[in-house]
Amino acid sequence: MYTDSARLLVYALVTLLTLSPASTYKILSNQTLTRLPRPQTDFDIHNGRLLSPILRTRVPGSSGSKLVRNHFTQFISREVPTYNIELHKTVTNGTPVINFIAVRDPPGISKGNISRLTLVAHYDSRAEPAGFIGAIDSAAPVAMILHAIRSIDAALTRKWQSGPELGNPRGVQIIFTDAEEGFREGDDMLYGARALASEWEQSVYAPGSRYPNRIKAIELFVLLDLLGSKGPKIMSFFNATHGAYNNIAVLEKRLRELRQFKSKGDAWFVDAGPRKDVPVRYPIYDDQVPFEQREVDILHLIDMDPGTLAFPTVWHTLEDNGESLDLDVVEDWSVLLTAFVAEWLDLEGYMT
Ligand SMILES: *[C@@H]1O[C@H](CO)[C@@H](O)[C@H](O)[C@H]1NC(C)=O
Ligand SMILES: *[C@@H]1O[C@H](CO)[C@@H](O)[C@H](O)[C@H]1NC(C)=O
Ligand SMILES: *[C@@H]1O[C@H](CO)[C@@H](O)[C@H](O)[C@H]1NC(C)=O
Repeated sequence: MYTDSARLLVYALVTLLTLSPASTYKILSNQTLTRLPRPQTDFDIHNGRLLSPILRTRVPGSSGSKLVRNHFTQFISREVPTYNIELHKTVTNGTPVINFIAVRDPPGISKGNISRLTLVAHYDSRAEPAGFIGAIDSAAPVAMILHAIRSIDAALTRKWQSGPELGNPRGVQIIFTDAEEGFREGDDMLYGARALASEWEQSVYAPGSRYPNRIKAIELFVLLDLLGSKGPKIMSFFNATHGAYNNIAVLEKRLRELRQFKSKGDAWFVDAGPRKDVPVRYPIYDDQVPFEQREVDILHLIDMDPGTLAFPTVWHTLEDNGESLDLDVVEDWSVLLTAFVAEWLDLEGYMT
């Protein structure tokens, strides 16, 4: 099933060009791929500056939840002050549900004329079992996203200083949703994502804007969930984003060939190649659902075995803690996500 890089790349390009005939997609050079910033000690689970503050309980409405949000705010003020932070607050059954959002738009363009690459993970943790940390679910994905946006930030500045965006101007936003897990066993889920999708549908832009509302201005909704275990398997769930899926699959393969991956083992993107060869994949009930219902393009990066449909073995157990993370895999994900975002935003030539 997994073909060589060159063939894969052709499929990725053909699909992408079919999707958006006006844009050209410039791949990252080998040189850029071998110089991508690495998290260094920031992912140390005990005292790393980025990941360790997230490895605690973060149940909606709790003090842990607030501490983690403060950590995001501090990280952004320190590392990417170019982003505007928004807190989207609602209340469910008396509990505050607070989505953490940060946005960077290109300068000099009206809000309604910018489409945004959107990187998403949930930051809340389950209330049960008591003491549940949720390292893959989704502390590590949140840290990967923060690493990726800081790693491309200077390049984005350089690109935007070099001249106005041609074609469709693009920005970047991150969404860390709250109350993805629901409040108790058997409860409904996705409170934060559902409230946000509904609100953004009603956030209408000025008349004459390219996009009618904030939902339609999402260029691609990249959802990371259950990442950080050894040997992940990632399926392609949506035809519309199979080109984007192949782009990241090609980057994984190239990074391995260039010895930029620390982890060993099989390729992660099990559906890489032409769409017609991919079995029908059913979307998983996760934060993308309220956005998918509003016709947003989704790339769902979630570790699930295509044969058994099993999530990683630590899923929803007390074992899902910092010690169980495969830190080589976590680092590889952070580098791969950085490459994907840099390539999507056309940053070749601006990264160093
Ligand atoms: C937004 O883009 C549209 C074209 O899609 C253009 O007609 C309009 O003038 C732009 N608005 C602003 C405020 O630049
Ligand atoms: C990029 O690296 C790959 C893998 O090492 C190699 O096969 C390819 O020739 C390189 N491309 C260039 C342009 O150097
Ligand atoms: C997805 O693409 C495949 C292959 O082109 C096609 O057989 C299938 O019907 C498509 N599915 C949907 C929902 O459009």
